[in-house]
Order: sequence, then C-alpha cells, then structure tokens
Amino acid sequence: MNFHIITFGCQMNVADSEWLAGMLEGRGMTRVGTAAEADVVLLNTCSVREKPELKVRSALGRVLQETGGRRSVLVGVAGCVAQQLGETLYSYSPQVRLVAGTDQTASIPDAVELLAGSPGRTLCLTGFTKTYHERPQAKGAQSPTAFVNIMQGCDNFCTYCIVPFTRGRQKSRAASAVVDECRSVLEAGAREITLLGQNVNAYGKDKTGDGTSFAELLRRVCALDPTARIRYVTPHPKDMTAEDVAAFAELPNLCPRLHLPMQAGADRVLKRMNRRYDHERFAALVDDLRRARPDLALSTDLIVGFPGETEEEFQETLAMVRRCGFMSSFSFCYSDRPGTRASTFLDKIAAPVQLDRLQRLQALQDELTGEWLAGRVGQRTEVLVEQQSPKQGGGAGVSWQGRDPYGALVHVALAEGENPVGQVVPVTITSAFRHSLHAERLV
Ligand code: SAH
Ligand code: SF4
Ligand code: F3S
Repeated sequence: MNFHIITFGCQMNVADSEWLAGMLEGRGMTRVGTAAEADVVLLNTCSVREKPELKVRSALGRVLQETGGRRSVLVGVAGCVAQQLGETLYSYSPQVRLVAGTDQTASIPDAVELLAGSPGRTLCLTGFTKTYHERPQAKGAQSPTAFVNIMQGCDNFCTYCIVPFTRGRQKSRAASAVVDECRSVLEAGAREITLLGQNVNAYGKDKTGDGTSFAELLRRVCALDPTARIRYVTPHPKDMTAEDVAAFAELPNLCPRLHLPMQAGADRVLKRMNRRYDHERFAALVDDLRRARPDLALSTDLIVGFPGETEEEFQETLAMVRRCGFMSSFSFCYSDRPGTRASTFLDKIAAPVQLDRLQRLQALQDELTGEWLAGRVGQRTEVLVEQQSPKQGGGAGVSWQGRDPYGALVHVALAEGENPVGQVVPVTITSAFRHSLHAERLV
C-alpha cells in the first residue's frame, strides 16, 4: 500500500506526521509524494486561524480529483480540525472513512490497517487521554534536525485561541522518556533537537508531571551531547522563570535564538487576551534574556486588530516591536475561533483596518529584519547543512542551505561531489538578502 500525508499547521503537526510516516513505513507501506499514487491519504489539519473547515473541504476536494474519485482510496483526517468537527467530516468527502483527534495519532496505524481491510467501514476517534501516551519510536534514517515532543495540550486559554480546545489540557511527558528519545535521535545522526510544546516553560506543572522543571529538563538534554544544538518552542513569557533565563548563560549548546510570542504591546489588549503579563514585564524579560546571552536573537508572534484595539494601542505594539528589536515575526489579523472568549467580544475591528495595521507592522518588521541580517555580514558562524539550495547560484560548486545557531537561513557554495547534509560547516557571512544570508566556507 502507498500512503501520502498532507500536513497543515504548527511544528507539532509536522512532528506527528513524521512519526506517522515512520510507523506506516514500519508496517511495510510506502510513502509517496502525491495523492494520485496513494491508496491511503491522511490530512493532518490545523484550525488556529483562517477558515479551517473550508481549507480541509477544498483539500479533500483536490484529493478526490487527483485520485479520480476512486472510492477504494482510504482518506483520514487527523489533527485539530478532526478534534473539532469529528464525524461531520464524513460528509465532506465520500472517501473519508477515518477521523482521528489530536490525542489519537498513535491509533492511526492500526486504524488504517483495519479500515483498509474492511471497505465501507468508518472509524471516528476523538477522545482525549488523561496522561501523555508514549508512542513507539520510528526507526530509520534521521534528518539532521529533530523535533521532540515534551508535552501535549495547553491550559492557558488566551481568549483568542482554539488550541486548548483542540489539543486538550496540558499533559507533560515523563522527563526520562524525553531524554531517551533525544539520546536515540542523536545516536541516529541528528545534530539539532527542538523541544516542542504549546507552553514549554510550564513543563511539569500539571498532574502528569514527574517533578522535573523545564530548566532541569533542558540541562539534561543539553548535557547529552555538547556538540548538538538544542532549541525549544514555544515559551510563554508569563512562565519564563529566572532559571529558564539563566539557562541561556549556562548552557553553551542552547542556541542563541528564542521565539517569544508577545502578541500585543498595549496592556489593556494583553489583559483582554488573558496573556497575564504587561508590556513592562515583557520588556524586562527581554532585557534579562539579553543580559544572559548578549547575542540572543529574538523572534515573536503578533496579532493585530484584536477586538477593541485602538490605533493608539496598535502604535504601542509597533513601539514594543522596535524596543525589543525582533529579528523576525509572524503576524496575523485577529480572527474569531468558535468557542473562544474573544469570539463573544462585541467590539470587532473591521477587516480593512486590520489589514492596514498588518501591513504597517510587517513594513516595520521588514526594516528590523533587514537591519539584523545586514548586521551579520562579516561575521563567522556555523551552518548545519540541511539540503541543496532550491536556486543554484552560478559560480563554482553546489549551493547548499542550512541554519546557523541563530536560526537564520544561510546559503553556502561547497565543492562538487561532497554530500555535506548533516555536517556543521564553518563560514563567513558575505551578504544579506531579504530573508536569508549568503556565506563562504572557511578553510
Ligand atoms: N502556543 C503557541 C502557539 C499558539 S498558535 C503560543 O502560545 O504562542 C500560534 C500563533 O497564532 C499565536 O501565537 C498567535 O499569534 C496566533 N493566533 C492564535 N489564535 C489566533 C486567532 N484567533 N487570530 C489570529 N491569530 C491567532
Ligand atoms: Fe493558545 Fe495561549 Fe496556549 Fe499559546 S499559550 S496555545 S496562544 S492558549
Ligand atoms: Fe494548529 Fe492545532 Fe497546531 S490549531 S497551530 S495544528 S495546535
């Protein structure tokens, strides 16, 4: 059997899809790149923004078309939209016979085998588990970068956010399981590990925690291999402890890059978002982090046009973005999500006003990103090579791309005939582009 996975959404979904692919391969199935060649198509979905139902509906329409409408093709919907819509998804396409919510990823391989052998049968699995369910690790070639889950769910209930509903309550994974998985991906060849969770600094602070704090977990993971790079996403500013900050000073292989979602700069908006920090506390945290690691590169998430946001309040977001000097940011227009508190707020901002704010914010970010990238020219750094650059520059050698410790995308030409994937190559940055850097190998 051939299978194809289509993934939307955050790195958790990307990680879940990779795990799933490994499991299905382990059962003798073959991964293919298009729905047309597949007997089984799995959609791993996201509902954090936009119109997820529409997106899933149109993706299912494309699958129906690409497979020539064959009913023998088994289609499954997993992830956050599956959790939200459940059995309703059967009506989206005659090919859908499996619905698996966010805590049910581990059941998908069995479900696929069962359904493949029973045409006409359907299965909808959307229950939440009480504890973090360990999944068997997929074996096989390891890419240079690995993602390791440390928790499931989120308890924060930011008023705009659907994640606590789609991913359920926070459940921490046992520290020993996290450390074991990190050790095995390093042994399999990974050179960089990103620890994943919706609110990583709250790791262990739930019923399923084993008493290990996030900072302690980080120390244990960093100690596994001092030459491996360690990162994490996503921290919540309100939960960053002094120990978490100090980790940037104490752990040399903890990368000097932090994605720290700010969401907004005005205190009234932050309060209505239920973020539980104000702009002063956020700025103080940024200062503390930079004291711990002076070269720390910070990036963030921002929402514009949250209900009731005034022009002055939006200006406060701009001021904070400048003040914190983010090297990059993801910014979004607020959108209503069903069941969230903010969706009941009455003072919604008109779409054209939201878009105008988004454009002004992104123009400021482009300026800051440009300054940050330009400031890197002339610096020495190390690139963990991930793949060939999609665009091959002229000149000698082959152009490869990877990331430096700051997470910046770097292109570097290397001699023909060598496969540098997974190698850490010392380079000097020679020029900056809009979203990437070019470098020369140091000999
Ligand atoms: N747990 C992470 C990721 C949450 S989702 C965190 O707390 O940051 C990723 C981003 O999507 C959020 O940071 C937020 O900026 C954005 N987002 C979430 N819900 C949204 C909504 N209803 N409208 C617009 N953006 C939203
Ligand atoms: Fe959503 Fe807030 Fe949890 Fe992030 S911390 S997942 S924004 S509720
Ligand atoms: Fe999307 Fe669910 Fe991740 S809503 S952002 S896939 S947690």
